[in-house]
Amino acid sequence: MATASHPGYERAGTTEIPVRRMDFEFDDSIPKYWFGGDPLRTMILTALSCTFPEGERMFMRSVRHYQNDLRDPALKKQVRAFIGQEAHHGKEHEAFNRMMANKGLPIRYLEKFTEAGLAREEKFFSPQRMLAKTCALEHFTAMFAETLLEHPELIDDIDERLKPLWLWHAVEESEHKSVAFDVFKEQVDSYWIRTSEMALTTLLFSLFSALHTRTLLKADPDAKQAARPLRENLKGLWKNRHILGKLGKHYLAYYRPDFHPSQKDSQQLREKGLLLLQKYVGDKVQLAA
Ligand SMILES: [Fe+2]
Ligand SMILES: [Fe+2]
Repeated sequence: MATASHPGYERAGTTEIPVRRMDFEFDDSIPKYWFGGDPLRTMILTALSCTFPEGERMFMRSVRHYQNDLRDPALKKQVRAFIGQEAHHGKEHEAFNRMMANKGLPIRYLEKFTEAGLAREEKFFSPQRMLAKTCALEHFTAMFAETLLEHPELIDDIDERLKPLWLWHAVEESEHKSVAFDVFKEQVDSYWIRTSEMALTTLLFSLFSALHTRTLLKADPDAKQAARPLRENLKGLWKNRHILGKLGKHYLAYYRPDFHPSQKDSQQLREKGLLLLQKYVGDKVQLAA
């Protein structure tokens, strides 16, 4: 089990949620289509990355709002660790985003679009609703993260220099998946706010992920020529239909009144992910004793 006292780890972390410093360097020699030479898959993940730095800062703000009122001292510590992990995710994804911006993509435009959209929501929505939005988006990130850890073959085609970024983020999203939810449970605990916000967030998240991907593809003069034929993409989806089915079930579980993120025990998946990650980053991660 990783410990927060490891030299590469920060004090804000806990044993279960260690705050690891990665300091990745993303070389400009990484190809533009770093996901198997495929513009579509590359830009889907790049569009997501454009929303991460400000999205994760919003997560931190929504949880910080309740930080001083928390009654459970263990949860207080977990909140500090959650904030530490998300701060590092933002920093590393900013570095990744700069590398993609250097390739002439409108990354800054999408980052600013996300900043403005979230600022608007924070102005009009209550703190309860913003925390519910964080819980909803944390459910999405945990779903994607645990799918990646369960099926690491999904990222086989990613450039080796970028695999550790996605693996590390996946492991940590799984580690802290319950924190915002537990704050919501203790401080708000409203089934209506939680699930109605999930429905709204699902709509907006799907819409903006698709629009942002389209913006990146349209702005890229080489994307059309490098694109895979549609039937290749459909074949890929069909091949992974069982994974899509599991994702659907995982998503719907959120609407159960007794749902809690820890109902899906993913400890073994995280250990598998850390083992894989250690091959890339050495002792920046610690494994179970
Ligand atoms: Fe994150
Ligand atoms: Fe997160």
